[in-house]
Amino acid sequence: MPLNFDYRSAGNIETDGLMIFVSSDDLGNFARQHDLSEEISGSIELGISSELFLGNYNEQKTFAVPSSKPRMVHMSGLGEIKDLTPEKLRRVCAKAIRSVMDTKIDSLTVLISKNLPESFESGKLVAEALSLGSYQFKKYKTSDSDDLRSSQMNVTVFDPFQTSSQDSIERGVSIARGNNFTRDLGNTAPNDLTPDDLRQVAQDLAEASDGKLNFSFFDEQKMSELGMEMFLGVSKGSEVPGRMVFLEYFPVKAKHTVALVGKGITFDTGGISLKPGKGMEEMKFDMCGAGAVLGTMKAIVELELPINVIGVLAAAENMPDGKAQKPGDIVKAYNGKTVEILNTDAEGRLVLGDALSYTADHYKPDCMIDLATLTGACIVALGHLSIGAITNDQKLCESIIEAGERTGDRVWQLPSYPEYGELIKGKHADLQNIGPPGEAGTVTAGVFLQEFVNDVPWVHLDIAGTAWGVKGIDYHPANSASGSGVRLLIDFLENLSESE
Ligand code: BES
Ligand code: MN
Ligand code: ZN
Repeated sequence: MPLNFDYRSAGNIETDGLMIFVSSDDLGNFARQHDLSEEISGSIELGISSELFLGNYNEQKTFAVPSSKPRMVHMSGLGEIKDLTPEKLRRVCAKAIRSVMDTKIDSLTVLISKNLPESFESGKLVAEALSLGSYQFKKYKTSDSDDLRSSQMNVTVFDPFQTSSQDSIERGVSIARGNNFTRDLGNTAPNDLTPDDLRQVAQDLAEASDGKLNFSFFDEQKMSELGMEMFLGVSKGSEVPGRMVFLEYFPVKAKHTVALVGKGITFDTGGISLKPGKGMEEMKFDMCGAGAVLGTMKAIVELELPINVIGVLAAAENMPDGKAQKPGDIVKAYNGKTVEILNTDAEGRLVLGDALSYTADHYKPDCMIDLATLTGACIVALGHLSIGAITNDQKLCESIIEAGERTGDRVWQLPSYPEYGELIKGKHADLQNIGPPGEAGTVTAGVFLQEFVNDVPWVHLDIAGTAWGVKGIDYHPANSASGSGVRLLIDFLENLSESE
C-alpha cells in the first residue's frame, strides 16, 4: 500500500489514526510528555491502563477513542529503552503498519515520542520501516480482495521534539523506495523480465534522472568483439539475447568511485545441467543482484550522494537448448583466462566474471562490490538471515559488515584462504567453473570471481538466502523478494562519501 508522508512538529492531530510507541519504562508518563490535547492524552492513559498494556517489546494493541481525530490509537511496545536498537524499532514499525492497514483507516499520525533515542534519527527510520512494512506486490491481481480497505494512506510524522526533519523523512522514504523497487523487479514474472527488459528498466531510470545517470549497454555482438566468451556461453542457450548494462552516476563533488555489479540471470533453469522441476519457479529471483544494483542506483540519485558509482548488470537467461553450452566446453574470458565448464548451472560466476574484469579494466574503480544469488550452499551455511561475503580486502569488507549491522541487511564473512583457490584450478583449462561437490560451495564460487577482479579491492555478496524467502523479519513480506543489499549498499556508499 503506497504511503504519502508529511512532517510536522506542532499542531493538532488531523488524522483518523494515531500510532504511538510506548516503552515499558514510561508507561505512566507517556501521555503527558507530548504536546497533545487533554482529550487525546486522557484517551491514551485510559487505553494503556484498560488494555492492561505492559509496553513489552512487540506487544501491540489498537483501541478506539471518543474523539473524532483520531478515532483510533495503535500502540506498540518497545520494551526497555536501554535494549532498543534501530533494527528493533524497524520491526515494530512494520508490524504496526500492517495492523493499521487491516483497518479502514486511511490517514495516520505517527508520534515520534520522547522515549525514542535521539541518535536513531527516528523520523527517517520510521518512514523507512513503514514504507518497507506496507509493501505489497499486486501487479498481476485482477480483482482486489482487500477492496474495503483504502488503497493508500496519508502518514504524518509528528515530531514535537524535532529529532528529525522533513529532509530526514524524505531520505527514509527514498531508501525504502529503492528497496521496494528491487522487490518489484524480483517479484515480476520471468516472461515479463528478460535481460532486455532489465536493460529497459536501467534506461528508464536514466531518462527519469534529469541527466544524473548515464546509460549504456553491450549487446551480444559487442560482447563477442570484446572477447566475453564466458558471458556468451551462458546466454547462447536462450532465445532472448544477453545484455551487459552500465549506469554511471558521476556527481560533481565526489572523492571515491565504487562499482556495483549485479547478477541478472532473469531465469535459471540450470541449462544442460538442468535443475529439478520442484521449486524451479523460484529461479525467477536469480536476477535479484542486478535488481539490488538498480534499486541502489535509483536511491542514490534521489539522495544525491556525493560519490561516483557505476552500476553494472550482467543480464542473461540460462536455458537448455540445441545451442546451449555443454559440460566440457572450454571458453576464454574477457581477461584471457580459460575456463572449463563442468556444470552449466554454475552460470552466475561466468556472467559476473566478465562483467567484473571489464569493469575493473575500463573504470579502474577504487573498489567493486558484486551481488549475486550465487549458491544454494550459501542457504545451507547461513539460512535466510545473513548475506555471505568473500573479499580480497579485509578493511573494505569490515565497512560493509558495519553497514549491515546499521541497516539490518546483515553480512557474514566466509574465509577465502589461498588453498580454496586450488579447488577451482582446471584440469584442461586455467580454471573450472565448480569446485568439488559438497565442499565450501559459496567459497569456491567467491574465489572463482576473485580471478576476475584484477586486484581491485572487492567484496562479493552472496544473497542467495536473503533475496527472497526471508521469514521472521517483520518488514520483509512473505513469498516476496526482499530487496536484500539495497539498504546495505546505500548506507555503505553514504558513509564512504562522507570519508576522506
Ligand atoms: N542461482 C543458483 C543458486 C541458487 C540456488 C540460489 C537456489 C538460490 C536458491 C546458481 O546459479 C546455481 O545454480 N548454483 C549451483 C552451483 C553448483 C552447480 C556448483 C548450486 O548452488 O547448486
Ligand atoms: Mn544456476
Ligand atoms: Zn543462478
